[in-house]
Amino acid sequence: KTYTDYFFDEPAFNTHDAGYVPLETSNTAPQPLRIPELLQPDRVEGNDVYYTITAQTGSVQMLPGAPTRTWGFNAPFLGQTAVFQNGQTIHLHLVNHLPELTTFHWHGLDIPGPIEDGGCHAPVYPDGSRDVAFKVQQMASTNWLHAHPCPETAAQVYHGLAALAIVQDAHEASLPLPRDYGVDDIPVILQDRRFHEDNQWDYRADYDPDGVQGPTALVNGTVNPYFNVTTQKVRLRILDGANRREWRLHLSDDLPLVQIAGDASLLPEPVAMTHVMITCAERQEFVVDFGQYQPGDEVTLYSDETPLLTFRIQDFQPDSRPLPEHLLDLAVPDADPEMPIKKVVLSGMDEAVMIDGTKFVMDRIDYRMPWHKCQIWDIENTNDEMGGMIHPFHMHGTGFKVISRNGHAPYPNETGLKDVVSLNPGEHVQIKVWFNVTGVFMYHCHILEHEDGGMMAQLEVFDPEKPAVQYDLMDHHK
Ligand code: C2O
Ligand code: CU
Ligand code: CU
Repeated sequence: KTYTDYFFDEPAFNTHDAGYVPLETSNTAPQPLRIPELLQPDRVEGNDVYYTITAQTGSVQMLPGAPTRTWGFNAPFLGQTAVFQNGQTIHLHLVNHLPELTTFHWHGLDIPGPIEDGGCHAPVYPDGSRDVAFKVQQMASTNWLHAHPCPETAAQVYHGLAALAIVQDAHEASLPLPRDYGVDDIPVILQDRRFHEDNQWDYRADYDPDGVQGPTALVNGTVNPYFNVTTQKVRLRILDGANRREWRLHLSDDLPLVQIAGDASLLPEPVAMTHVMITCAERQEFVVDFGQYQPGDEVTLYSDETPLLTFRIQDFQPDSRPLPEHLLDLAVPDADPEMPIKKVVLSGMDEAVMIDGTKFVMDRIDYRMPWHKCQIWDIENTNDEMGGMIHPFHMHGTGFKVISRNGHAPYPNETGLKDVVSLNPGEHVQIKVWFNVTGVFMYHCHILEHEDGGMMAQLEVFDPEKPAVQYDLMDHHK
């Protein structure tokens, strides 16, 4: 079966917002898709791997004329791709060469909060550094590193502080899937920007409390990119790294995008789709089979009618191995009967965005739950102003299982573990939540300007067998 619709409610697409900025087709000459370099360890000692990651300024030739001033992690823009193995202990030396404080948030990693997690309580000041270590204990997945200083997350990610962090495990490695980085397994980081005079970005000038958008699509920081396809099958690790934009993806000739993973795990079974929507901060991995094409052919990835990325077909060896019909046995705990359903209400637009009728306060804990207990969270989007909008709900520190949308089955491509789930206006989504680590974790809307605008809360996950922990939480004045 091949699905042919976007699943989400069409009236809630951001195209209906008065502030919507349509994408424009680029008239820049095609450029080779930039592939972020792999992050190399400083040293490896058995299971312990040491890295240095520096947040830095830089500039990139994105358009003809002046280079664009940008920020990145060990790179002028975006950052090097980290590849971690499940079971490794990762030691990080985090350095800030920016003119303002930043943080290093591992979106999707199940690691303790609030320091290792790198949300707003773990600042690294200009010319300063911080050392953290954590053990990777989770399934193969595509995650990401991004800045998370509150309330400057949106501006810093817009400048470029976002990079991929891939987790690999023995199970995924045993499956016949493409995994030659940069050749048949490629990052596809989708963002949009507005270029002003001299090819510069101006976050403040383009500010919109519902999320900054621009008319120019960037893929891995490349305007109008092409990628040379040298294998019959290519795995795309798509990240919606935009501040606000969702993307409605489809390929020329309605070539199927076969989804194999989403956010925090493989999907139990591959799901073939001709059209798929990705919302902010989600990751979707697809395998695309170019077997019907000849050298010289081109296949284009679009969002709505705007071309994003052109695949230029080269000579390749035929590869007729079918994808596995089954990818993952997903073990999900039963909800603990003593844990009541936890409700979360997302509301508002513009400056009025809130969670549970209140705005984020950095040193307030909004909820507490014990680790290793499984609880049903019922998330509701009550936002119906001007037709309302889709809010992508994200939790730090764990992957969750979507169990229903309005009492019905979740979408066919949200059957794995996720850490972002998007809600149409009026929708209730139920998820199963459990934590294998303790600490203080944020949960929020991942439209970055909504997050900075206070559509965020935080929970403490505790070990009932240990004495209470006093966390040193930042407030807005530290
Ligand atoms: Cu991408 Cu608070 O996270
Ligand atoms: Cu996160
Ligand atoms: Cu939102």
